[in-house]
Amino acid sequence: MGKIPFKPGTMIYPLPAVMVSCGDSKENYNIITVAWTGTLCSDPPLCYISVRKERHSHDIIARTGEFVINLTTESLARETDWCGVKSGRDVNKFKELHLTPEAAQIVKAPLIAESPLNIECKVINIKELGSHDMFMAEVVAINAEEKLMDKSTGAFQLNHAQPLAYSHGKYYGLGEKIGFYGFSVKKRK
Ligand SMILES: Cc1cc2nc3c(=O)[nH]c(=O)nc-3n(C[C@H](O)[C@H](O)[C@H](O)COP(=O)(O)O)c2cc1C
Repeated sequence: MGKIPFKPGTMIYPLPAVMVSCGDSKENYNIITVAWTGTLCSDPPLCYISVRKERHSHDIIARTGEFVINLTTESLARETDWCGVKSGRDVNKFKELHLTPEAAQIVKAPLIAESPLNIECKVINIKELGSHDMFMAEVVAINAEEKLMDKSTGAFQLNHAQPLAYSHGKYYGLGEKIGFYGFSVKKRK
């Protein structure tokens, strides 16, 4: 039917490219860019990141059992890419990129202050899958940029921060709004 068979592979795109911060003291703070990430469950709030064993961050997260998912924006695209091609074994990514480590509410891993939303996570299981180990984690705290809160509704408006998307090796902005949750069945007034 006009479709070409393709060898099985990871073809779920677009994805967020997030900056995951880790470490338990200033000397070992690090940032790794991760696209293999997502939500596992709403209640309890569970998420995952999948990280190759050879990453410097893998050892840090396995040892500390904690990390922070920092959502990224178009203005953080360069930093996001850089943290995904340089290793914390060789460079201090916070210092080189002038990113600001900030104390988290619960975990020892630092927040990246420049990110609009920081998700504090505690690892509950490490699943060895093959190329990657999946760190399943419980979300233990959220830090949201105040100016993105709609004061009248209390809703967090991440879309106003121009989130960054990653698709087949390239970074994009979100583009135009097309609808909203449930718009397909909403009755006109
Ligand atoms: C857009 C993008 C997405 C990435 N996604 C992942 C990922 O999901 N898992 C992973 O292990 N590495 C991923 N990487 C590669 C790591 O970020 C990269 O190897 C990084 O240098 C590791 O840093 P570290 O050695 O300081 O931990 C990605 C890189 C980029 C640029």
